[in-house]
Formats: sequence, C-alpha cells, structure tokens
Amino acid sequence: MDGGIDDALALILALRSPELDVAGITAVSGNVPVEQAAMNALRVVELLERKDVWVARGLANPLVRDPVRAMDFHGADGLGDSELPSPSLRPRAESALSLIKQESQGAGRRRLSIVATGPLTNIAAVFTEESDIVRRLDDVVIMGGAYGLTEYGVGNETPAAEFNIYSDPEAAKIVFESGVSLKCVGLDVTMTPGAQLSPREYATIKRSETDHAQFAAKILAKAMGREKRFALHDPMAIAMKVRPSLFKFQDYHVNVETKGEYTTGMTVSDRRDRPSKELQGQRIAVCKDAKAAAFKQVFLRRLMSR
Ligand code: RIB
Ligand code: CA
Repeated sequence: MDGGIDDALALILALRSPELDVAGITAVSGNVPVEQAAMNALRVVELLERKDVWVARGLANPLVRDPVRAMDFHGADGLGDSELPSPSLRPRAESALSLIKQESQGAGRRRLSIVATGPLTNIAAVFTEESDIVRRLDDVVIMGGAYGLTEYGVGNETPAAEFNIYSDPEAAKIVFESGVSLKCVGLDVTMTPGAQLSPREYATIKRSETDHAQFAAKILAKAMGREKRFALHDPMAIAMKVRPSLFKFQDYHVNVETKGEYTTGMTVSDRRDRPSKELQGQRIAVCKDAKAAAFKQVFLRRLMSR
C-alpha cells in the first residue's frame, strides 16, 4: 500500500473481512513517501485494534526512476490532510522485502497471496532477489493498469498510464513477466461511475457512529467536497479476494511499456483475435467487469457495521 485515502479504505475492508487472514502490511513509495505510507497503515491498524498485524517499510524509491507523488489528490499526509493524531504503534524493524519472503515460507498455512494497491517496487525487488518465491505464492492481485476493456480503461497519471504502473514501470514489467499468477484490477472497472462513492453514500458514512466510519468520513472529506465522488480503486482490489464472484476476468497478452515518450507505464493489452507472436507478453488475467453495486454494498457494510 502507498498510503493514500483509498489505500486506507482498502485496509479497513481487509482487516474487517473474516474471509481474509491478513499476514502483514507492506508500505511502498507512491502517493506519499514510504515512511508516511507506513504511518498511515499503522493508523488503520491502531484504529481497528489489530496489533496482531505487522506493518513494514519497503523501498523508499522506484527501482530506477525518481518517485512520483499524488499529494495534490490525497493530501500532504496521504489521508486528505485530515490531521489525525500520529499512531503509537511502530513499524517492524525488518524490511517489507524480508517479511514478504518469510511469510511466503509460511509452513502449514494457506499459500500466501499478495494484494498490491500501490507501485510494484517491493514485489519486483523480492522477485529479483528470490525468484523461486513466484511458485510459492498463490497469486498476486494488483490495483493497477488501464487495459482499454471499457471506456474508462485509459490512463489517469498520463493519457496512457495508470498511476501505480506509471510510478514504477520497470517494477511492473518484472512482475508482469515473472510468470506469477497475476490478476489485474484496472481503471477499466474502478473508474466506472457505479463503482465510485456517491455523495449520498458518503452522507451515510458520515452518519454512521463507528470509529472506523468516522475515520473514513474524515479522510474522505476534502476529496468528496472537491470531486463530489470518489473512486474506490484499492478497496476493489481487496474486494476481489473477499468476494471473487463479483469480478469477471479475461486473459490477455499484456506488455508494460518502459521506453515510450508518451506511453511509458502503459499496460499494452493485445485484444486482437490473433495476438501477434513477437508481441506476445505474458497472458494476464485482467478484470473486465465488476458487479459494482454489490461491491459497494460489501464495502459500505464492512465500513459501517460495528
Ligand atoms: O490509479 C489509482 C491508484 O494510484 C490507487 O492505488 C491510488 O491509491 C494510487 O496509488
Ligand atoms: Ca494506492
């Protein structure tokens, strides 16, 4: 997670979903610097009294590029400039990379899945350092990319590229080409109007009396005031593990552009009937449809129930 508003909402959903056994949370440089991302994850862990879940810091910068930030949207603190108190919890001393490797060895437990809601820097670094982790993982679900599968499947950071991929395209290329079982939830589905938080739904969150709903209302306040809607990108990636039946995937050959003057960070999906051999790329499961109303019902119930 890279410490933004939707990352925090996604963490609340994950930690309040009995279907998930959350091993830990890894912070990555993205919307905000990695230290801030870790602090924001700790705020959610503390809010939900889940000290059993560790938070660790990953790499402070993309693999080869300078960091790209999104503080104009998420606020300088990543949480809508909500000026929440600092958490008393601290991150683990170990790096996120070593803890991902450790958890993937988790003897006698279900195989580890990773849900990435930020740039893929940490995952690419782990895959590079220890390639056989790929076969130990159950799957990797990412919120990332724009695949042209719907009218919303276009870039948000540039006309061609989605923020998480654009922030570290070299890392994305490593993960996309690793052979891991990869499921991508892209802007094609997260930007569909029906999947976004409406002013009416925001009003119900504000009226809800639980601490976690009030936390959500605070961090959403500025963005909802400004945009009158809010894309639930990261909660949709988590929801894909909570209610997989709500999401429809199709395999496409996808390449990540790392050299384009105007297209760096683009997830180039070959949607032709006969994909050309030389451009093959890995076959990636890309989300082409989501039951938006049912997704929001799950999200809002978990956010507002005691
Ligand atoms: O493009 C949306 C993604 O970029 C979300 O994960 C948001 O938090 C930012 O990281
Ligand atoms: Ca994010």
